[in-house]
Amino acid sequence: MADLKERQEIKVAKTVKEVRHQVKIWKKEGKSVGLVPTMGFLHAGHGSLIKRAVAENDVVIVSDFVNPTQFGPNEDLESYPRDFEVDRKFCQELGAAMIFNPEPSEMYDNPKTYVNIEGLSDGLCGAKRPIHFKGVCTVVSKLFNITGAGRAYFGEKDAQQLAIIRKMVKDLNFDVEVVGCPIVREADGLAMSSRNTYLSGDERKAALCLSKSIAKGKEVIHKGMSTKQLISTMSQVIQGEPLAKIDYLEVVDGEMLKPVEIIHDPVLVAMAVYIGKTRLIDNFSWNPEEPEV
Ligand code: PAF
Repeated sequence: MADLKERQEIKVAKTVKEVRHQVKIWKKEGKSVGLVPTMGFLHAGHGSLIKRAVAENDVVIVSDFVNPTQFGPNEDLESYPRDFEVDRKFCQELGAAMIFNPEPSEMYDNPKTYVNIEGLSDGLCGAKRPIHFKGVCTVVSKLFNITGAGRAYFGEKDAQQLAIIRKMVKDLNFDVEVVGCPIVREADGLAMSSRNTYLSGDERKAALCLSKSIAKGKEVIHKGMSTKQLISTMSQVIQGEPLAKIDYLEVVDGEMLKPVEIIHDPVLVAMAVYIGKTRLIDNFSWNPEEPEV
């Protein structure tokens, strides 16, 4: 089935109408539809989501849309990297059936309705990016409605986003299975991100302090440990790098994202670190009942 998918020319949809028309045909044919929401400038991390979606669904739609509502006023909406033609070929090679690349005006026509989530969006990345998750929840809800996908694939690198989308799907009874996929790393450990392209040569080297701090955290974490101790040990690794500045480094429960003081149950250890002007995120999850990491 994968070979056949690879040979077919990928459909490019620019409008909601085009997507709905094609999905109607696929559904009449009894085909299952998978969705991989992205903001484009695709890398191997996105590739792992697309490959998994292609393996688990009859047809896969990749959305390629830099969503303006999730960027704050001083963020990188304008400079966010874009290369649609490269993305199109990448999706084609991996066997996706359609790439949805709408203009902002197709997605937003003077909107007055948004999807917001309480509590889970207050901390971690949400503390410094107050409108970010409202924009994410709104666009992801729209993509669910537009594509009618039965499964949707998200990376675990954006752990807060994944927890928020799972909760939103539960709260609003979306008929979609949310599939979380493991973080994909460069050979030297840096988590893949479209924003890695912002890093200069020296910053690229400095950025390794995130994955090194995670490796240290995995080494020392144990049941009954205090969060304070874990954070202090992990912070030291980052603070040893002059180009790095910690935005946050926190230990929370992986579902409701509430801060944890002593590690007894499964936790999410999440960080955002500035390397020069570029803000990078990374994380790991740890379960005391399955301590191998
Ligand atoms: O993770 C992303 O790239 C975006 O937040 C998403 C889920 C595609 C929504 O714009």
